[in-house]
Amino acid sequence: PVLVVDFGAQYAQLIARRVREANVYSEIVPHTISAAEVAAKKPAGIVLSGGPSSVYEPGSPELDPGILQLGVPVLGICYGFQVMAKTLGGEVANTGLREYGSTDVKLTGENAFLGEQPAEQAVWMSHGDSVAKAPEGFQVLASTPSTPVAAFANDETRMYGVQWHPEVKHSQYGQKVIENFLHRSAGIPADWNSANVIDEQVERIRAQVGSGKVIVGLSGGVDSAVAGAIVHKAVGDQLTAIFVDHGLLRADERKQVEEDYVASTGVRLVTVDAREQFLGALAGVTDPETKRKIIGREFIRSFEQAAASLVAESIEGPGEPVKFLVQGTLYPDVVESGGGSGTANIKSHHNVGGLPEDLQFELVEPLRTLFKDEVRAIGRELGLPEVIVARQPFPGPGLGIRIIGEVNEERLEILRAADKIVRTELTAAGLDAEIWQCPVVLLADVRSVGVQGDGRTYGHPIVLRPVSSEDAMTADWTRLPYEVLARISNLISNQVPGVNRVVLDVTSKPPGTIEWE
Ligand code: XMP
Repeated sequence: PVLVVDFGAQYAQLIARRVREANVYSEIVPHTISAAEVAAKKPAGIVLSGGPSSVYEPGSPELDPGILQLGVPVLGICYGFQVMAKTLGGEVANTGLREYGSTDVKLTGENAFLGEQPAEQAVWMSHGDSVAKAPEGFQVLASTPSTPVAAFANDETRMYGVQWHPEVKHSQYGQKVIENFLHRSAGIPADWNSANVIDEQVERIRAQVGSGKVIVGLSGGVDSAVAGAIVHKAVGDQLTAIFVDHGLLRADERKQVEEDYVASTGVRLVTVDAREQFLGALAGVTDPETKRKIIGREFIRSFEQAAASLVAESIEGPGEPVKFLVQGTLYPDVVESGGGSGTANIKSHHNVGGLPEDLQFELVEPLRTLFKDEVRAIGRELGLPEVIVARQPFPGPGLGIRIIGEVNEERLEILRAADKIVRTELTAAGLDAEIWQCPVVLLADVRSVGVQGDGRTYGHPIVLRPVSSEDAMTADWTRLPYEVLARISNLISNQVPGVNRVVLDVTSKPPGTIEWE
């Protein structure tokens, strides 16, 4: 792999993704890693990320200098560039000149590392310190008015660095810089892609599972669907998928799993119809956190029951009992739980397919090394339908937290009808890529006066909550075209009984969360 050494900024994940976009496998490691640990991973290259500190600040993150003696090609970015300069005997100074944002840089030397791009270009900068003098043996390749050494290279030791952030899209030729480093300077082939990730995972899964039986909990979402499909490719009918219909699904979602998913994968599916159980447990409940806890609890209960009966069957039947559970854990979860600071628990999220603690399964996690966009690419490669692969996020507790007030079947039907109109119209208007997700919310305990035909109505409002976001941590409301809003509003108020008003939520996150509960 190419190791991305994380100096404590949000940039490391972005760098890791850019390296993979160049078809080279990458892994993120903490800056506290030792040279011996690095060597043990046999990296093809190393990228030192940016970070928020100054190399002269006491307690600023350091690098084991032995890492630069391993003979492995290194690319230093921003803080990583300065760490490299300082460690190798150059000079880093606080000139008092900060550069932040888009900056014009001039390329000044000939070197494949910064080859095949214009000599003047806009790059993204964010630094206070600067490299004042490159270490001996290094060629200076770029400068700005306030940064004399903005890039350097040493082809003999295969060490390279840039002061700017090539991983962000604001750096015009950023991806080219990363690709040049990988393919031209370090000579790493571009041979990592969806097809060989699948092959590799299939082999791993077979080695882990042997002839054992496996189950996967499908949520209708991308991750569990792709995880299930890859495991099915590896072990076929040793896998059984369990899908809990909690009655809080949107229109057509059960069908997508039972028909489209099964048809495209051949997975053996058991649907647990738990609608009555969930609605019974939710009767009379209006508090959002209580709803979430009930839904989480009932989900685990139904999943456990289904799993237990499969286990019982498999003990009787041929072969070994069910021993493995598939989880759709992604790489960011792995990186973040490896020491990142936890974010406050704003809402008690429960992940459908989450691990019931007292069920003793060994985990199979075929997506552990992947980012979300890579999971989608693999899903496509495995032939999953676009409705599943391109699916926008949808909360585990489903429509249960989009009905403000008590949840019951009549209200669910109203919300399902409105939600279907919204989804159909947004897709038809070609807006799916621009929108992160668009919760549709029924204010079931609110009524307002309206007039329809020649009669007075006293109906409920539907709220549209279209948001744009990178990662759901922050979000802005999407400026949908008025014509699209007008059409949605007309269709909902004409076609959905009980609704006489459509309103638009224009709150960013923060302060509002994406979901209303
Ligand atoms: P909030 O409402 O906290 O939502 O801004 C952030 C993102 O998380 C989704 N969400 C959930 N996803 N289980 C999930 O799997 C949950 O309980 C849950 N609650 C919220 C929400 O749709 C948004 O994408």
